[in-house]
Amino acid sequence: MGTQTMPSSSLEWAKVDLSTTPNVVVPPPGPRSREYHARCTNHFKGLSSQVKLFPVTFESGEGCVLRDVDGNRYIDFSSGIYVTTLGHCHPKVSEAIARYARTLMNAHDFTTPIKTALVEKLAEVLPGDLSGFQFYDSGTTAVEAGIRVLRAATGKNEMLSCYYDFHGKTYNAVSLAHIRSQVYGRVRAPGAHMVPRPDPYHPLWTRPDGTIDTDQYIAFYEEYLDKATVGDVAGFVLEPIQGWGGSVIPPDDFFPKLRALCDRLGILLMADEVLTSWGRTGKWLCMEHWGVLPDVVTLGKGFGNGFPVTCVAVREPYKESFESISASSSYGGNPMACAAALASTEVIAEENLLEWSSHLGDLALARMLKMKQEHKIVGDVRARGCLMGIELVKDRQTKEPDNQAGALVYQKAFAKGLAWIPAGHILRMSPPIVMDEATLARGLDIIDEAIGETEKELGY
Ligand SMILES: Cc1ncc(COP(=O)(O)O)c(C=O)c1O
Repeated sequence: MGTQTMPSSSLEWAKVDLSTTPNVVVPPPGPRSREYHARCTNHFKGLSSQVKLFPVTFESGEGCVLRDVDGNRYIDFSSGIYVTTLGHCHPKVSEAIARYARTLMNAHDFTTPIKTALVEKLAEVLPGDLSGFQFYDSGTTAVEAGIRVLRAATGKNEMLSCYYDFHGKTYNAVSLAHIRSQVYGRVRAPGAHMVPRPDPYHPLWTRPDGTIDTDQYIAFYEEYLDKATVGDVAGFVLEPIQGWGGSVIPPDDFFPKLRALCDRLGILLMADEVLTSWGRTGKWLCMEHWGVLPDVVTLGKGFGNGFPVTCVAVREPYKESFESISASSSYGGNPMACAAALASTEVIAEENLLEWSSHLGDLALARMLKMKQEHKIVGDVRARGCLMGIELVKDRQTKEPDNQAGALVYQKAFAKGLAWIPAGHILRMSPPIVMDEATLARGLDIIDEAIGETEKELGY
């Protein structure tokens, strides 16, 4: 991969040489991968399904390319797990982290020049009056802090979230998620409620013309708030586009209607943008697609492009709520973290990468719609910027999930040199937003081939 030099632009730096990548020199997972994996998993337990299904051992990454310990080179269609939005080891981000690793690593929550620069930059790029911040070290801890802000700001306790949302794995966060997928916390935290959200491919309520009827969802929420809560609701906490839930994009009129409902009933709206922000969907905040300003927002993953730094951002009227939640933490806002987040933010802003992410999403959607025409197991395709999904079904009428096909497509594409992170029957894709068009097309070709081979193998 060579030593890094500053790129004149991230796109130039990240451009993949398709004559050398993907390149599978040993069928993966190769012997060295397997040996490391066996040694590591003697001790390291609790692996995700993706790793269990394809136990490759990665050695290095640069831009949109990953290399395993057997010398195979992969196109990166996962960004870690929606994290390295600007590609692996972006020179500007890596240099910023290294600078503070050499000068000042931790100063608790004392002010530092780099933190000052970061909060001023955030206030500049974020919409509306989202101008109060606190920093954390994981998406989950940011979500927990966001919930504490909602409670402090309203003096109320209950929370609503949506079926198949994901917000993290501590007790409050997991209580606002599809809890059965967790082996612990079998009882939701007191005050946590779940309601359905509009999924255009699986609508609960439709209009006479067959389109999804968001008014009925909103009417249901109103009834639920009245009948099923104790009337002590602090906030609605939800993902703008569901990531883990399968890249599910709500209808355009949903969030404006939800915002209006929250305003009418005096409920705060918290957007968990840990996964969807910082260019992943082509905007700083995914909520900007619908012109809706949340009261509280969580940022993570691509926010520090790999450095563990996350953020809770609140609107002006709720800034003071941070004072009453004992907001600080050991690592929140440490200088290395602030440097990573500031560098990532500057790169995205200076190079207009939000637009490029949207452009890649449009290209991918066109290509995936073609796949839908050609493969009957492809039930639905969706993309917003570099957040993409393909839903595999056994039958287009019943829409029954095809998890077996999902696992096969995943393994076949990986074996051809595509590093990615599908889950069950949803092929989830989150390439770095600095990917070039030809590499995006090559990655989608690999998926197309893998779907075709899977259809044959399963006798479709
Ligand atoms: C929307 C959302 N919120 C919160 C989290 C939790 O973040 P972390 O894994 O950094 O704790 C995730 C992680 O995938 C997420 O997608």
